[in-house]
Amino acid sequence: MKYAAIVGAGGGLGSELSKLYLESGWFVFGFDLAASARVSELSEAHPGRFQFDCLDITSDAMVGEAARQVAARTDRLDLLVNAAGILTRNGEKHLEDFDISQSLAVFDINALGPLRVTKAMLPLLKAGDDRVLVNISSEAGSMQTNNNYIRRYDYCMSKAAVNMQSVILQRYLKPDGIKVLAVHPGWMQTEMGGARAPVHPRDSARGIAELAARYAHNLDSPIFFDYNGTPRPW
Ligand SMILES: NC(=O)c1ccc[n+]([C@@H]2O[C@H](COP(=O)([O-])OP(=O)(O)OC[C@H]3O[C@@H](n4cnc5c(N)ncnc54)[C@H](OP(=O)(O)O)[C@@H]3O)[C@@H](O)[C@H]2O)c1
Repeated sequence: MKYAAIVGAGGGLGSELSKLYLESGWFVFGFDLAASARVSELSEAHPGRFQFDCLDITSDAMVGEAARQVAARTDRLDLLVNAAGILTRNGEKHLEDFDISQSLAVFDINALGPLRVTKAMLPLLKAGDDRVLVNISSEAGSMQTNNNYIRRYDYCMSKAAVNMQSVILQRYLKPDGIKVLAVHPGWMQTEMGGARAPVHPRDSARGIAELAARYAHNLDSPIFFDYNGTPRPW
C-alpha cells in the first residue's frame, strides 16, 4: 500500500488529486480547513482508505497534530502534496488601494504553510518508498513568465517564495532521496480559478501525478514544471 498526504484536499485541485490516488489504490490522508461535499464523497466512495482531518496550515499546533494523525496510521509517506492556497479580493487592487497588512495572511498560508507542513511530515516522507514532495506553485511565481500582472503583489510574491522554498528543500533533502517538485497546475476551473478557466482540475491532477511518478528518484531533474510536464523557467 502506498500512502499520500494531500493538503487542500477539500479544494478543486486537492480533491481531484485525492480521488485519483484513491482510485489507484493508495491510502490518502486529506487535510483542509473544513470538510467539503467533495470530501464526503471521497470518504463514502473509499471507506477505510481516505482519512480526512481539518487543518489550518497557519497553526503550528494543528500541523503537528496532523503529522501525529498520519503517524498513528503509518510509518511512511510516499507523497506529500501542498495544494492549499488563497487568492484575495484585496490582491485585485492597484497599489494605491492595496492593504498590505492583509498580505501577511497570504504569505502565512501560501508560502509558510507548505514549509510548516513539510517540516512536520518530514520524518514520514523520509521513510517512504517513493519520497516525492509536490508544492503547488503558479506561473504567477515565475520571474520570467509573469508578464501580465500589474496587481496581485502578495499572491505572485508568495508563489515565488514557494519556488525558492522548493529549490532549497531539494538541495537539503537530496541526501534523503526526496524529490521536490514545484508545479504550475494551469488556470483551473476551481473556486480560485473561476468558471472561465480552460483547465479542468482533473486533467491537472492527472498531469501532476504523472510528473510525481516520472521524477520520483530522479533527484537531478528540473524542479519547476507545468502540470503538462513542460519545465518552466524560474
Ligand atoms: N485555480 C487556478 O487557476 C490556479 C492557478 C495556479 C495555481 N493555483 C494553486 O493551486 C492550488 C489549489 O488551488 P485550487 O484552484 O484548487 O483552489 P481552491 O479550490 O480554492 O482550493 C484551495 C483549498 O485550500 C484551502 N485553504 C485555504 N486556506 C487554508 C489554510 N489556512 N489551511 C488549510 N487549507 C486552506 C481552501 O479552503 P477554503 O475553501 O475553506 O478556504 C481550499 O479548500 C493553490 O495553491 C493555488 O494557489 C491555482
